[in-house]
Amino acid sequence: MSIQADKIIAVRTSKTVYRDGDHVIKVFDEDYSKADVLNEALNQARVEETGLHIPSVLEVAKLEGKWAILSEYIKGKTLQQLMYENPEKQEEYLELFVDIQMEIHSKTAPMLTKLRDKMNRKISQTDFDATTRYELHMRLDSMPKHSKVCHGDFNPSNIIIAEDGTPYILDWSHATQGNASADVARTYLLFWLNGNIDGAGKYLELFCKKSDTAKQYVQKWLPIVAASQSVKSRPNEREFLRGWVNVVEYE
Ligand SMILES: Nc1ncnc2c1ncn2[C@@H]1O[C@H](COP(=O)(O)OP(=O)(O)OP(=O)(O)O)[C@@H](O)[C@H]1O
Ligand SMILES: [Mg+2]
Repeated sequence: MSIQADKIIAVRTSKTVYRDGDHVIKVFDEDYSKADVLNEALNQARVEETGLHIPSVLEVAKLEGKWAILSEYIKGKTLQQLMYENPEKQEEYLELFVDIQMEIHSKTAPMLTKLRDKMNRKISQTDFDATTRYELHMRLDSMPKHSKVCHGDFNPSNIIIAEDGTPYILDWSHATQGNASADVARTYLLFWLNGNIDGAGKYLELFCKKSDTAKQYVQKWLPIVAASQSVKSRPNEREFLRGWVNVVEYE
């Protein structure tokens, strides 16, 4: 198997996704942590066992000196692409988006990393002062403990609608098990980070309605999720995420 430039489907900082017939090869740059690559493949394998529609992991390999994950290729369009191409179907797509996320949350995968552990670790890694970090740890500790599968980067570019209409969920590198409302807060922030503030509000409204969740409950997660996410974020996003964390200080 070799890597060919004419088969590129997506280029990201420190990784490139190629298509090779029925397969997709996600190739990570040399500086990418080996542990992170293996963790992504392991998460994907664990989530496969829940029965959710996701591309199957076929191989983890080293190609031309770079780590790579080989998975099943899903023929279709991402939900992001479909939303862009058919703006009149915005509401229908948002419903589908929420339904898929609720289906993820209906699953359990006891071997996944615990969201709470990951967040406590991230909060400790932030450069907020000790008082703010203490407040964030306390707030996290007070949130109800659940063990639902959380995607961790649930956004329309990580869903492919296959040609037969089946939605497939991609990109399990941030998957954990924990409280689903934290996952919802994360998606809400992703809409904001994309400049889609109107979309963020509509999404939150719809998710809360469909799942019978109080909006305030998701909002309580926002400072914690924003703080966790601010670690290793891009400088412009960091500023924004820190703004969400600071609401804590005024309470
Ligand atoms: N199995 C697959 N079948 C078809 N297309 C895929 C597959 N995996 C990835 N892609 C395409 O490549 C893009 C990037 O893949 P993926 O989301 O796994 O990587 P990523 O580096 O996490 O990207 P992002 O930062 O956009 O989330 C997807 O949005 C999709 O268009
Ligand atoms: Mg992605």
